[in-house]
Amino acid sequence: MDSTKYSMADFMNIPGKDIMERAKLFSEFVDDVKAKHHFQYKRVALSGSGPIRRVLDPYTGEVREMINLASNDYLNLTMHPKVIAAGQEALLKYGAGAGSVPLLGGTIDLHIELEKKIAKFKGCEAAIIYTSGFGSNAGTLLSLLQEEDVAVIDMLAHASLIDGCKNTNVKPFKHNDLQSLESILKRVKDKYRTKLVIVDGVYSMDGDIAPLDKIVEIAKTYGAYVMVDEAHATGVIGKNGRGTPEHCNVEGKVDIVAGTFSKRLGAVGGFIASNKEIITLLNFYSRTYMFSTAMTPQVAASLIAAIDVIENEPELRENLWKNINYFRKNLLDLGFNLGNSETAIFPIIIGDDYKVKEICRRLHEMNIYANPVLYPAVPRKLARIRMSLMTNHTKEQLDTVLNAMEDLGREYGILCQV
Ligand SMILES: Cc1ncc(COP(=O)(O)O)c(C=O)c1O
Repeated sequence: MDSTKYSMADFMNIPGKDIMERAKLFSEFVDDVKAKHHFQYKRVALSGSGPIRRVLDPYTGEVREMINLASNDYLNLTMHPKVIAAGQEALLKYGAGAGSVPLLGGTIDLHIELEKKIAKFKGCEAAIIYTSGFGSNAGTLLSLLQEEDVAVIDMLAHASLIDGCKNTNVKPFKHNDLQSLESILKRVKDKYRTKLVIVDGVYSMDGDIAPLDKIVEIAKTYGAYVMVDEAHATGVIGKNGRGTPEHCNVEGKVDIVAGTFSKRLGAVGGFIASNKEIITLLNFYSRTYMFSTAMTPQVAASLIAAIDVIENEPELRENLWKNINYFRKNLLDLGFNLGNSETAIFPIIIGDDYKVKEICRRLHEMNIYANPVLYPAVPRKLARIRMSLMTNHTKEQLDTVLNAMEDLGREYGILCQV
């Protein structure tokens, strides 16, 4: 099979092929992607997350020291000594696991401390913690929204939010488009019991920020509630890193604040912060919470330490922003299209799947770890290389990447020849 003639979309459902036949065809596709050295997924790291990462080369078997532009660990808290020490201590005190689901014996004092801490950090009355951000978003929406309700959701909202809307009516609005949001709200105003506007604070593939102040204002005009997913915003956006509501001056006005512990907070898990009543409801109706073993003690302890670090070490955030501003200015000066990105997430829009795969292959060979984002994850004309920065990338590392991108950009006809 010639993989360049297909995309992942072609294998989502193949008419007339059962699961085994479909899996076989998809495997043939993957084999050819690998043969062309375009397979840049699941690269195996041999060291922790950091600006430089040791990565096993899937094609040569050698170990590469790569500049890591593939991590969502923007503040590099996964490797922060206080975060590691707190996890180690909890591991020794409580053991490796929580032992049960939260309602039936799995809850420990660290879970309660973390719930209180994240609620306070987000300026909400209460919070509930889950073992994954996907599970918290999907589980929350599945338990809250029913047939009589409607989800008015940004078209680029994360998959976990979209999957969470399977029990309800869904009206997508154009990405970050306030007119589109308002016209849908006008139409659904009197038709549904609950109207919930759902957005990401920072969009994971585009790095742009939701205009949350305007979104809240419009939602309130039409009697709708607002839920924001702060996965990529917590810890970085807003003067004190409290996220998009802080950045947009609407703290306390967002009804449901969701987030993950897996990105800036450097571990794994998710949370929902809201009023006490919603949190109580989720404790007893959110199936991904109730029927899933509680967060491991060492993760909970590391997360408590990570929130302390965010609150007490603003220089981590300041340095990240220095890196973001330097990298953005230089990529834009070179002539790259970064869409509307304003954060540590850089979508370098190339608009051609093949060129994206080729450039990622070449970057890999130059020891630069960046991810391809292709159709159907994004429209074909928006195919891109996704790079994300960390607080402790050095100027030299960023310059190495900029030089490589300049050379490759010219070679593949993305930048003008000089
Ligand atoms: C915007 C957004 N929400 C939710 C999630 C899911 O979070 P987790 O990785 O903690 O399951 C992600 C992660 O990819 C994300 O980017």
